Amino acid sequence: EQIEKGGYDHFMLKEIYEQPSVIKDTYRGRLHADKGIVQMAGVEDNLEKFTNANRILIIACGTSWHAGLVAEYVIEEFARIPVEVEYASEFRYRNPIIYPDDVVIAVSQSGETADTLAAIKLAKEKGAFVFGVCNVVGSSISRETHAGAYTHAGPEIGVASTKAFTTQITVLTMIALRLAKAKGTMNNSDYQRYLLELELIPEKVEEALQTNEVAKTIAGIYKDAPNCLYLGRGYNFPVALEGALKLKEISYIHAEGYPAAEMKHGPIALIDEHMPIVVIAPKQNHYDKVVSNIQEIKARSGKIIAVVTKGDTQVRALADHVIEIPDTSEALTPLLTTIPLQLLSYHIAVMRECNVDQPRNLAKSVTVE
Ligand code: G6P
Repeated sequence: EQIEKGGYDHFMLKEIYEQPSVIKDTYRGRLHADKGIVQMAGVEDNLEKFTNANRILIIACGTSWHAGLVAEYVIEEFARIPVEVEYASEFRYRNPIIYPDDVVIAVSQSGETADTLAAIKLAKEKGAFVFGVCNVVGSSISRETHAGAYTHAGPEIGVASTKAFTTQITVLTMIALRLAKAKGTMNNSDYQRYLLELELIPEKVEEALQTNEVAKTIAGIYKDAPNCLYLGRGYNFPVALEGALKLKEISYIHAEGYPAAEMKHGPIALIDEHMPIVVIAPKQNHYDKVVSNIQEIKARSGKIIAVVTKGDTQVRALADHVIEIPDTSEALTPLLTTIPLQLLSYHIAVMRECNVDQPRNLAKSVTVE
């Protein structure tokens, strides 16, 4: 097992550090920024189904559901197709409305999650075209779907999903770009810029991994906090959910993710000098709104841990701690902002002497309903 961990203390840490190379594996042979091409066989073969879709339904559980939420923002923005993201376990039990021209995308690392599998069967019965985004080759979900694209993240052993998440986002972003091109919903210079930026993501993730030391220092300060709040807007709202999920899964600290602006409808009541609040605040649309959310937290003495774009000064002036990530195009920021949050949870869990790779009560693949 020590050998399999490749010199890392835990599989989770190894898998966090594998992200630059597995993201590259995910787009290898599919993304050619120099030629302006992004293509995946499963999408090309069914391009008309995608471009004619009146709606895309994304079905998943857990972290895969969070990747689906990121994709909702990306696909709607790039391809202008309405997207709904559903928990498989809710979808399958409520007699869902599915139209024949709906495209269903099932997202699953293991390809074995019972609820997701059952939801796929139901969608197929109702006549939908079902596309799988799986990591495990030959898994039940990859076999049950009409077509699909693998994430190529390699085996993920740590129960808390890390590299599966970022590679799922990579695949879903490539689908969004392909559909944008086919539908003509994105101007060519934006399209080209996104292709180039996506190609640069592995090296920027590498740079984001250099936040490890600062994440460890922050972990040391907040490891005994009973609660933690994660806030983000737009593309980074799902990252807030995922950051909170990572923390609760492996450190057993109660954590909640919220859209930053919703804070005033509840979570703000929890804020005092004992509450650490992770704010995901890269340079993006409505950055000024996030800054004002941070001011509201500061006025209530909350402890602010901010994830910002390198060179940021405005948030730095307000936050207790800043973690800097490289700049990229807005829709790709989740691939970078999520990295320090994985590291933060990891170090907190290690410091609390938790079983990082196999947290209590959790399974890597939930094959029961
Ligand atoms: C379990 C795992 C999570 C995972 C979820 C969905 O809860 O612990 O890491 O996100 O199942 O699994 P899937 O394999 O369908 O992505």
